Amino acid sequence: MASVDSTGSRVSGRLGSGDLLHAGLVVVLLLGVWCVSGLEVSTGKVPSAEAMNGSTVLIPCTYSSCIGIKNLYFNWHFNNNGSMVKLYEGEIAHEGAEPKVMMCHDRVTFVGSSKTNNISLLLWNITFDDAGDYTCFARNLKEKNRNHSAIFTLIVVDEIRELDNTLTVIVVSVLGGVIGLLVMGMVIKALVVHFLLKGGEKNKECLVSSSGNDNTENGLSGAKADNKGTPKA
Ligand SMILES: *[C@@H]1O[C@H](CO)[C@@H](O)[C@H](O)[C@H]1NC(C)=O
Ligand SMILES: *[C@@H]1O[C@H](CO)[C@@H](O)[C@H](O)[C@H]1NC(C)=O
Ligand SMILES: *[C@@H]1O[C@H](CO)[C@@H](O)[C@H](O)[C@H]1NC(C)=O
Ligand SMILES: *[C@@H]1O[C@H](CO)[C@@H](O)[C@H](O)[C@H]1NC(C)=O
Ligand SMILES: *[C@@H]1O[C@H](CO)[C@@H](O)[C@H](O)[C@H]1NC(C)=O
Repeated sequence: MASVDSTGSRVSGRLGSGDLLHAGLVVVLLLGVWCVSGLEVSTGKVPSAEAMNGSTVLIPCTYSSCIGIKNLYFNWHFNNNGSMVKLYEGEIAHEGAEPKVMMCHDRVTFVGSSKTNNISLLLWNITFDDAGDYTCFARNLKEKNRNHSAIFTLIVVDEIRELDNTLTVIVVSVLGGVIGLLVMGMVIKALVVHFLLKGGEKNKECLVSSSGNDNTENGLSGAKADNKGTPKA
């Protein structure tokens, strides 16, 4: 009992949300042992996620209660730089009942199901302004409306940097391939040209030497004489 008193005084002293959460956790744990009351909300084992701007993200939250639920009220808040913006509000009358939506936000879709104790949201087309803490809150009439909440942190990452990396890899590999092919082509071309030229040069050398040395002989040697003859005339 002493520990409960100390947490109680700490809460009233500081009113910190972390301490409140702690106290809530202690209460839930203490009561959970005897299963007197048992509503718990959870945003997952790792209550945070990274997502690219422009994408659509799942903000998870589940609840569980060993004593069952009655008029389970829940809502979602986004901590927008200190001021809480309500994103969703609903109520589940009893286990398995479809939630009665009381309020929602334009970029938010409820994707949970009371059959799986799931009160998750889908947040569409996120921007960098959507980064931050999302609080899933629930209150069960069956346990005298005790408050429960869990926080999920969304980290919005720059799409461009990630895309840049993949683009760089693609560009580098494609360029590498293209350059490789070009080099191979150039080598082949150089070899072909080299051998062709070698042959050609031999012919030319023959022509030049023959024409240079002896015009009359060249003139007598048929078709090639015409080529040599025109520039001269
Ligand atoms: C993501 O953010 C970058 C930088 O602000 C912006 O240029 C880009 O258009 C954004 N992408 C989407 C899909 O909104
Ligand atoms: C957040 O709040 C602080 C103080 O109230 C203010 O200086 C700052 O500009 C705000 N940031 C945004 C992104 O609104
Ligand atoms: C998200 O963005 C797409 C494309 O810009 C748009 O068609 C869609 O309606 C948006 N969805 C919401 C819920 O705003
Ligand atoms: C909650 O429902 C959504 C949508 O069906 C699903 O993606 C998510 O995995 C569910 N979460 C849990 C913890 O079951
Ligand atoms: C539960 O939360 C509401 C606000 O949502 C607050 O007014 C009320 O005092 C809280 N109750 C307890 C027992 O903390």
